[in-house]
Amino acid sequence: MAQVFDRSSNALARMSLVLTGLIVIALGVALNQLQRSPWVTKQGQRPDQPVPFSHKHHVEGLGLQCQYCHTQVEKAAYAGIPPTKTCINCHAQIWTNAEYLEPVRQSWATGASIQWIRVHDLPDFVYFSHDIHVNKGIGCASCHGRVDEMPLMYQQNTLQMEWCLNCHRNPAVNLRPTSEIYNMAWQGPSTDKPVWCATTGAAGPTAGAVSCTTVDPSGKGPEMAALQAPGAASGTVSDAPAASGVVIPASYQKFTGQMELGKYLTAQYHIRTPNELSSCETCHR
Ligand code: HEC
Ligand code: HEC
Ligand code: HEC
Ligand code: HEC
Ligand code: HEC
Repeated sequence: MAQVFDRSSNALARMSLVLTGLIVIALGVALNQLQRSPWVTKQGQRPDQPVPFSHKHHVEGLGLQCQYCHTQVEKAAYAGIPPTKTCINCHAQIWTNAEYLEPVRQSWATGASIQWIRVHDLPDFVYFSHDIHVNKGIGCASCHGRVDEMPLMYQQNTLQMEWCLNCHRNPAVNLRPTSEIYNMAWQGPSTDKPVWCATTGAAGPTAGAVSCTTVDPSGKGPEMAALQAPGAASGTVSDAPAASGVVIPASYQKFTGQMELGKYLTAQYHIRTPNELSSCETCHR
């Protein structure tokens, strides 16, 4: 053999083995990166919608609540996209000639829905439901980001399994009073801005109704104003008692950190254990 393959080709063979190894590793890394890249996850992309609808204008600018348009979010798996009628409520009077709104007028005239392009879209083999998340104190912004600051809608998070599991393994860091789920700017309690909560004994849609407030209920602070669920008027997410402040539960507990509040709400909302929430059957049925 020594005559056929000299020393240098031996080195060459070794070299090519090493190179092949490196290429395989590099490919693996690249594929892994690709799988997590925004190109695959669609994170941050703003698809060309038939109408350049701005959440920033309608939510931050006009002060519309999410439920005004996404009426099913507390009650069903799907939040729902509003029908043209919802837009026409206002746009029969406002911006009636704007070219932007031509597809809205077309849709209203013909009865054919506007063909919105889906921004968030989980694979069919994953089970997801809005109502449970929203009724157990996960705010829209925890998953969708600052929608009120989005001129055009985009997907803030990867929506990959890892992302879901990250929260399911430790939901406490993301739990807030259900009265705050639509609050885009909500931040957990701190020493400067404590939150007080009490159980009311009332049975609500969320097992063990909890009432929370950011104003000192002992009356030392400014006038008592309980945080009211925006949906409470229409009888949806209900954190009894409502804002009137007539009923002041005796035993308010003060929270100055997210973890304390999170643990308290985990118990009050009967959140399952991280193990149960991470088991495959939870999301793959
Ligand atoms: C005036 C009606 C209106 C209001 C109010 C509104 N939305 Fe929307 N929303 C829409 C329309 C129309 C779409 C579809 C077009 C688009 O994706 O921008 C949409 C799309 C979305 C989507 C993406 C849907 C998809 O395709 O994946 C999310 C998430 C969303 N809205 C969240 C919110 C949140 C959170 C709020 C409250 C802060 C809110 N919306 C308030 C009308 C509204
Ligand atoms: C509560 C009333 C109201 C509803 C409901 C409403 N709009 Fe508007 N919309 C307005 C007003 C007011 C403006 C002007 C806002 C501005 O220029 O700041 C506007 C502006 C717009 C514009 C111009 C671009 C922009 O965002 O400034 C588009 C496009 C638009 N709306 C689409 C829609 C669509 C689509 C729907 C239904 C999903 C809808 N609107 C529902 C009141 C409404
Ligand atoms: C736990 C994370 C999470 C929370 C909290 C959440 N969403 Fe979603 N949202 C999603 C996911 C995931 C999808 C994609 C669902 C799919 O493809 O089946 C989605 C889709 C949507 C859509 C598109 C239509 C639909 O239902 O598929 C709208 C609109 C929407 N969300 C609005 C909201 C609003 C408004 C809130 C707050 C009240 C909210 N979401 C809270 C994760 C969340
Ligand atoms: C920010 C936190 C958070 C994120 C992100 C999140 N979840 Fe959840 N999820 C929760 C909480 C809290 C519950 C309620 C647990 C309970 O009641 O025991 C829950 C419950 C569920 C349930 C149980 C529903 C039922 O009826 O049993 C499913 C299914 C689920 N989540 C799927 C998902 C999927 C899929 C994703 C990712 C696309 C996701 N979740 C992302 C916090 C989250
Ligand atoms: C909290 C919800 C949740 C739980 C729990 C969960 N998954 Fe997933 N899984 C997802 C989501 C969301 C996707 C889709 C990811 C995507 O589209 O990138 C997914 C995708 C997958 C895929 C397809 C390949 C991939 O990575 O995209 C497999 C296989 C899978 N899951 C297996 C499992 C197994 C096995 C378990 C239990 C150990 C499990 N999952 C638990 C949410 C979950």
